[in-house]
Amino acid sequence: MKKTIATFLLALLPGLATAAGGGAHLEEVSVNIHDEAALQRGAKLFSNFCLSCHSVEFQRWRRTAEDLGLSQDQVEKNLIPGDDTVNDMMDNVMPAEQAANWFGTTPPDLSVVARSRSEDWLYSYLKGFYLDDSRPFGVNNTVFSNVGMPHALWELEGLKKPVYKTVTGEDGEEHKVRDGFEYVTEGSMTHSEYDRAARDIVTFLSYVGEPARLERPTLGVWVIGFLAVLLVFAYFMKREFWKDIH
Ligand code: HEC
Repeated sequence: MKKTIATFLLALLPGLATAAGGGAHLEEVSVNIHDEAALQRGAKLFSNFCLSCHSVEFQRWRRTAEDLGLSQDQVEKNLIPGDDTVNDMMDNVMPAEQAANWFGTTPPDLSVVARSRSEDWLYSYLKGFYLDDSRPFGVNNTVFSNVGMPHALWELEGLKKPVYKTVTGEDGEEHKVRDGFEYVTEGSMTHSEYDRAARDIVTFLSYVGEPARLERPTLGVWVIGFLAVLLVFAYFMKREFWKDIH
C-alpha cells in the first residue's frame, strides 16, 4: 500500500513541475524584499522597461515611494511616466485595446505575478528569451513557449541563440536537442550585471505582490511586546488568586 502511495506521489511530481514551469528547468533566485537598494533598482528598471505595457494596478506611486525610502520628488522625476503624480496608480502607458492589437493579447497586470508564477519562474522568464525566427517578435522563451512579448531587456542582456546537439533516441533515430545558448549580440550589461537586474525586477515584483510584508517584522515586535506585558500581568494575577489557597 505504502509503495502504491509513493508511486502515485512520484507520478504526480513531474506534473506539478510542469504546471508551474511549462516543463522547462527553472533557475533558482533568492530575493530579499528588505533590500532597499535592490527594490529601488528594480522599480527603476520596471518603470523604464515594463511599465509601457504592464500595469501594477493595486499599487499607488505614493506607497512605492514610502516603502522604497524615496521622496515624492525623486519618484515623480525618475519613475513616473508622463504627467502622473504620486497619487496615481501604477498604470501602464499603453491603452489595453491598442496593446491587444499589436501583441494579439493584452499585457497582463503584474501586481500578483510573483505569487501566481513564483519568483524562480519570473527570474527564469527574464533570462529565458532567445532568438527564434519563427516568432513575430523574433524571440521565444525557455519557460513560456511561443510567448507574445518582445524581449524588453535585450539592450541590457544582448541576444542569444540556441545551440543544438544531436542525440540518438530510444527509437534509434537522431534528434536535435537544445544544448545551451550562445550570445550573438552583447548587451550594455555584463552577464552578471544582467542577472542582478533580473533579480532586482523580481524583488520589486515580489514586493508589489504583497507590500504589507515589509511591515510585518515591525508588527511582530509589537505583538511580542504585548504578549510579554500580558505575561507579567498573568503572573501577578495567578499569584493573587492562589495566595489564600496555599
Ligand atoms: C512591448 C510591450 C511589453 C513590454 C515592454 C513588456 N511586456 Fe511583458 N508581456 C507583454 C505581453 C503582450 C505579454 C503576454 C504574452 C502572452 O500571453 O503570450 C507579456 C507577458 C509577461 C509576463 C507573463 C505573465 C503571465 O503570467 O502570463 C511577465 C511576467 C511579463 N510580461 C513581465 C514583463 C517585465 C518584467 C517587463 C519589463 C522588463 C515586461 N514584461 C515588458 C508585453 C510587454
